[in-house]
Amino acid sequence: MPSFVLDRSRMIQKNISLKPYNTFGLDVTASHFATFSSLDELNQILHLTETNESQLLVLGGGSNLLLTKNFEGLVLKNELHGISILKTENEFTYVKSAAGEVWHNFVLFCIENNLGGVENLSLIPGSVGAAPMQNIGAYGIEIKDVFHELEAYEIATGKIRTFNLTECKFGYRESVFKQELKNQYVITSVTFRLTKNPKLNTSYGAINDELQKQGISNPSIKDVSNAVIAIRKSKLPDPKEIGNSGSFFKNPVVLKSHLEKLKVTYADIPSYPVDETHVKLAAGWLIEKAGWKGKTIGNYGVHKNQALVLVNYGGAHGSDIFKLSEDILQSVKTKFGVELEREVNIL
Ligand code: EPU
Repeated sequence: MPSFVLDRSRMIQKNISLKPYNTFGLDVTASHFATFSSLDELNQILHLTETNESQLLVLGGGSNLLLTKNFEGLVLKNELHGISILKTENEFTYVKSAAGEVWHNFVLFCIENNLGGVENLSLIPGSVGAAPMQNIGAYGIEIKDVFHELEAYEIATGKIRTFNLTECKFGYRESVFKQELKNQYVITSVTFRLTKNPKLNTSYGAINDELQKQGISNPSIKDVSNAVIAIRKSKLPDPKEIGNSGSFFKNPVVLKSHLEKLKVTYADIPSYPVDETHVKLAAGWLIEKAGWKGKTIGNYGVHKNQALVLVNYGGAHGSDIFKLSEDILQSVKTKFGVELEREVNIL
């Protein structure tokens, strides 16, 4: 028997539950499943597998995913590990992290080394490799603000390509890897540009309030991280306790003229400037005002402290949560004339 058949059966498992691998805790099955902790392993798995790109799912932390049915294809779990400081040049320190590292562990590494830039992104679920996919952001910072470059494995050729900031085409919860290069690359490492003398961004209201509450007037990088952790814990459910994938919808961008019309009825509607003619609205506010906040339907629903977050209390089906998201989309459209867009990937 040729050796690759033996290798294949060793590396690729069949009919594996994905419940431990998605933060919604949805119990669907993958027909094929493999982990890789080196590029060699990734190469071997992809060369041994007769699969096409639409049948491939690369998992980081599984934190931005709604699995509505069993997955007929190969799920690849990225377990590339290692974080290292590459160099310090002028005021910047370059830190490279393998894509399979847990995002918050990377943030903690930076804080321990007194490197500023990612403290506002503390406690975001998911992996380092998933972070640039959707340009994760919170409390006034997005990954693009600290990004240097990333390396990615091209599935078709097995070659490693480096992407710089421009090539990633970052936008609000967007990148080239969610658009034209979708399913073509496996991100293997990300290099960040951090600094020992950061200008801390505490302008986001809730951070200042939290620091004041703690009696801190001259915060360190770690103080800001702790404040963000406290805010997130108070508002957002911990996926280890209640299944969820953070914000389910994006904050919608609408015409300023539409906001003006809404203000006639809803004087207190929150909005954030985008450009001359557009503003961003708070999807959480719209969903709450449409009556959904805290609504529970059996074993799933809308979180009680943050209406942007849909939750699985245990045993829910992804298709039920998807249906709930459709009902929310429809009711926000009817009440406010605003089309919400899902942030989470639906499979
Ligand atoms: N709001 C409500 N009701 C709610 C939720 C929010 O009225 O149920 C209002 C708030 O009072 C506030 C406004 O909406 O006036 C904005 O709320 P918040 O500051 O909580 O932030 P968000 O816009 O709802 C975004 C990100 C979060 C990120 C926070 C903090 C998106 C889709 N979400 O939420 O990201 O943590 O800002 O920066 O942009 C994620 O992407 O998974 C995520 C959690």
